[in-house]
Amino acid sequence: MNIQEIIAKKRDKQKLSKEEIDFFIKEYTNGNIADYQASALIMAIYINSMDEEETTNLTIAMAHSGDILDLSELGNVVDKHSTGGVGDKVTLILAPIIASLGIPVAKMSGRGLGYTGGTIDKLEAIPGYNVNVSEKEFIENVKKIGISLIGQTLNLAPADKKIYALRDATSTTESIPLIASSIMSKKIAAGANKIVLDVTYGSGAFMKTKERAQELADTMIKIGKLAGRETVAVITPMEEPLGRNVGNSLEVIEAVQALKGDMAEDVKEVVLELGSNMIKLAGKGDCLEENKAKMLENIRNGKALEKLKELVANQGGDVSYIEDTSKFKKAKYIMPVRLEDKGEIANRNGEQREIQGMGKDETKKEIIYEESTTQRTIKELKAEEVGKLSVFLGAGRIKKEDKIEPEVGITFNKKVGDKVENGDVVAYIHANNEEKAKEAVERLKKIYKLK
Ligand code: URA
Repeated sequence: MNIQEIIAKKRDKQKLSKEEIDFFIKEYTNGNIADYQASALIMAIYINSMDEEETTNLTIAMAHSGDILDLSELGNVVDKHSTGGVGDKVTLILAPIIASLGIPVAKMSGRGLGYTGGTIDKLEAIPGYNVNVSEKEFIENVKKIGISLIGQTLNLAPADKKIYALRDATSTTESIPLIASSIMSKKIAAGANKIVLDVTYGSGAFMKTKERAQELADTMIKIGKLAGRETVAVITPMEEPLGRNVGNSLEVIEAVQALKGDMAEDVKEVVLELGSNMIKLAGKGDCLEENKAKMLENIRNGKALEKLKELVANQGGDVSYIEDTSKFKKAKYIMPVRLEDKGEIANRNGEQREIQGMGKDETKKEIIYEESTTQRTIKELKAEEVGKLSVFLGAGRIKKEDKIEPEVGITFNKKVGDKVENGDVVAYIHANNEEKAKEAVERLKKIYKLK
């Protein structure tokens, strides 16, 4: 068996056997298959897909590429994973809430992938927070404080770690077999026996339609069942960015505010939906509405925020940043984004012709002024475009070795459904480079669509 034959088979739309999949995962993890060969196979899988049996075999091979943790001594341990989003800071809010209710949370998260953010990059925005704890420490943390959030450390699903970074750099993210195997291999390796999946759909998600999201959810639930892990999936929209910020430290700050009770409505909906299912799975309450009430109570009484502080302290992070989020380093340039005199407001209303003459023709200028003072409603703010913009600013990676700039990103004042008037600041760009900041302002103006 050799890798060229396996690549050729998938390139020619043939089914791969369990032996071939096992060979690829084992040899790639051991460094005997080059990145360029793995990239070619991943691209072939992306284009020609895999059937259910191949996807399951891929997942099991990836899960067994390293250690599989046994957390059974801790009873019911829950894990949560999102298939990806823009502005998705749900784990940072949800995990401490659930742990504060006495339900152990053991979660291995990922880094940013494509234009979507990753919890690990966000946690690393907290000075000192160590995502690379040993497996022993991971288990000890869960035993000691009921929660641990880690990266793909040491020997847990190392095959996914390598393939994930390759996919990020080769535009091969949006694939059901690749996403399902990536997520479920990590979940199986990290040892929790109860898994809640947030399967996103829409512009900012890898699955563009609800039907595709359902297909991905079904695939992962089946794999979970085969692996003896009770798995539930919640399908959530990701058409516009989630919450008020996109960017790593900006999202940590937003998560802290949420745990203090100031949570954006769209974030709250997802947090409560997933959390109420996690509590049910853990056997701590069958009524989802009552579970939501318990979660809100632990935000009100401060227990959830305390749990976040405990988590940060336990993993070496500087808790003073959580106590006083103004300590987070700010980007060098924070520029407002206004929909104004270039006609962003009028031109969304079909006044393109008048705008083209602006600045040269006084009559036209006047017409535009009148048009542009009218109130409009934001119709669209595509999460995928926003995600790409945040990567451009340095909040994500273009090459797998790129360094993240934790402080850069975007803050939204206005989102879909909000009213805007000429000159309103709809967002702020946070950047470390003036030229990039200016370009981002112009790009974001175009991403906002009004009716
Ligand atoms: N999250 C993962 O861990 N893997 C994917 O492929 C997508 C989202």
